[in-house]
Amino acid sequence: MAEQLRDVVVVLPGIMGSVLRDAHGDDVWKLSAGSILKDLLGRGKAIKRLQLPDGIGDDHPGDGVTAPALMPDMHVVPGIWTVTVGYERLLAWFRESFDVVEADPRDPDRVVNFVQFPYDWRLSNRYNARVLQQTVEPVLERFRSRPGNADARLVFISHSMGGLVTIFPDGHPGSADGQVVLVRIPERDVDLPAGREDWSVDGLLAYSKVCTHAGCPVGLFEAENATLLCPCHQSAFDVRTGATPVFGPAARALPQLPIEIDDDGFVVAQSDFHEPIGPTYWNRS
Ligand code: FES
Repeated sequence: MAEQLRDVVVVLPGIMGSVLRDAHGDDVWKLSAGSILKDLLGRGKAIKRLQLPDGIGDDHPGDGVTAPALMPDMHVVPGIWTVTVGYERLLAWFRESFDVVEADPRDPDRVVNFVQFPYDWRLSNRYNARVLQQTVEPVLERFRSRPGNADARLVFISHSMGGLVTIFPDGHPGSADGQVVLVRIPERDVDLPAGREDWSVDGLLAYSKVCTHAGCPVGLFEAENATLLCPCHQSAFDVRTGATPVFGPAARALPQLPIEIDDDGFVVAQSDFHEPIGPTYWNRS
């Protein structure tokens, strides 16, 4: 029997995990399982309509793009990259397991306990956070007004946004060859080569952001597989084992920066890199 929900549950998809619909009503970002490359190639022009103007900051461009739904399926480039995980199974499990009441436009006064929050992931986190607040606070207020619900909370089921932060050496913001990606994974999954036992802290790992294949920035992190990805030629690096290459043309691991937490609680480097950064032909002069 379905369990009663005592709180309001909000499902918050990951980046690219919401369908985007343009001003003409066309679903520009909604991909078919297993065919993302075909879809992307076929939608090149349409996807250009999602481009944001320069300097958009925390605003909305007013281009009529909406986010009507969570991604329905799992979208995979086999062997390369899980772009996003669809949410159908999660939603189905919730509906089976709990006494879920969802919004219905035909019944605007309905007291709901389950909210899906698709959002326009092109826009800033601040913008989307404001929309989220405006969406869920009235829902919680209404839910709490029901007898026995006064202490109800919002419970967020969130899909990781990737967890990648780019950091620079102190005093060198924007340094091309000094940039480092900082990622966090469960500490139990850290499996670094011998001699690096104290190079990570609390599951935090720091690696050079300069791809060892041809020097592009390694700018994507897929948390499910703990993999850093280089978009230039799809090299993938397993952060658990020292950013060892697991796919693509890169043959060398991303150099790791040993880190620690200082007395003030800041993440700091213990030393410089212990090996050259970038591709083997990189100009290090
Ligand atoms: S530069 Fe990264 S894969 Fe080629």
